[in-house]
Amino acid sequence: WWGHVDPAPKDPILGVTEAFLADPSPHKVNVGVGAYRDDDGKPVVLDCVRKAEAKIAGNLNMEYLPMGGSNHMVEETLKLAYGENSEFIKDKRIAAVQALSGTGACRLFADFQKRYQPESEIYIPVPTWSNHHNIWKDANVSQKTYHYYHPESKGLDFSGMMDDIKNAPKGSFFLLHACAHNPTGVDPTEEQWKEISQLMKDKGHFPFFDMAYQGFASGYPEKDAKAIRIFLEDGHSLGISQSFAKNMGLYGQRVGCLSVLCEDEKQAVAVKTRLQHIARPMYSNPPVHGALLVSIILSDPDLKNLWLKEVKVMADRIIGMRTALRENIEKLGSPLSWEHITNQIGMFCYSGLTPEQVDRLTSEFHIYLTRNGRISMAGVTTKNVEYLANAIHEVSKS
Ligand code: LMR
Repeated sequence: WWGHVDPAPKDPILGVTEAFLADPSPHKVNVGVGAYRDDDGKPVVLDCVRKAEAKIAGNLNMEYLPMGGSNHMVEETLKLAYGENSEFIKDKRIAAVQALSGTGACRLFADFQKRYQPESEIYIPVPTWSNHHNIWKDANVSQKTYHYYHPESKGLDFSGMMDDIKNAPKGSFFLLHACAHNPTGVDPTEEQWKEISQLMKDKGHFPFFDMAYQGFASGYPEKDAKAIRIFLEDGHSLGISQSFAKNMGLYGQRVGCLSVLCEDEKQAVAVKTRLQHIARPMYSNPPVHGALLVSIILSDPDLKNLWLKEVKVMADRIIGMRTALRENIEKLGSPLSWEHITNQIGMFCYSGLTPEQVDRLTSEFHIYLTRNGRISMAGVTTKNVEYLANAIHEVSKS
């Protein structure tokens, strides 16, 4: 039956973790996957999560959630994206369901897009998170790309991006990273977001925001929602994928939210039932534990404050590591510019290292990262930063 099945290619991100785990070297460093580590390189469970877990210990039944997940979790999650006092929430104009983290939210949206706008395409930034391509491909939505990253400046190709938005057929779907762009760490400024929003409004495009890193760009989840708020003020219809993998450290809990801002309550009800209808034959209903943790944390003022503090601690540690990595490479006398390490934001540094240089980092130094040169700054610590800087200098100096 299955003789014709070839092994699948390795995932460009999760395959790096597999290779890292298989390496017996005591010097190995994993700066591949975007997962936060403390300064000892250990995974972190936030205190607010531990406290929320203590509240539910022994008190929980294991019943199914509704198809759309926990309404309480969804209500609290929407406030983070749309604003605490959002008129859209009050007017019940948002169709929203709990999703299997950011990937699940994107996939649910892609399937919904295919079903109800079957001829539409999705414009995806170059580069983007590799899984975005898989998600829309598996949903049978054809993909176009738009300019985003400017390799020479290692910053935003704003004019290229604006041209592509302008030249796309009216009413196109655009995938935007709400903050802390993955993999480049390059975000538009507030002024640029305003221009992007205006142009997209003029063209009648549909913006879909993937917000996987709310809190990791500035240290403040509220500030990191700025791009979305600009689009909301400009009166867009839009969609948002939210995830608690990174900002609550709930990676394996798979908890997130998909929302679609509709024209009125009636439309929102219809869209929500259709999203549930797509979810039902795929996974029936989402898992309960992570959703409960999120709803407890976000609805308890003390726990929410603790969470906000902990997000800031994570973001600040990463910022500190950016400075340390840059200084350490410069100290070695590298003739290249490493300014972009501190200019870029969020969890990643798009280093500019070539695939061949990355291969050398892995084979000679046991340093694991994706071949596009993306360094997960969350894996850099005061203990490995010198080793990493030295290896980067070695492979980039000639
Ligand atoms: C990443 O980009 O490393 C993360 O979003 C993890 C993943 O699922 O790829």
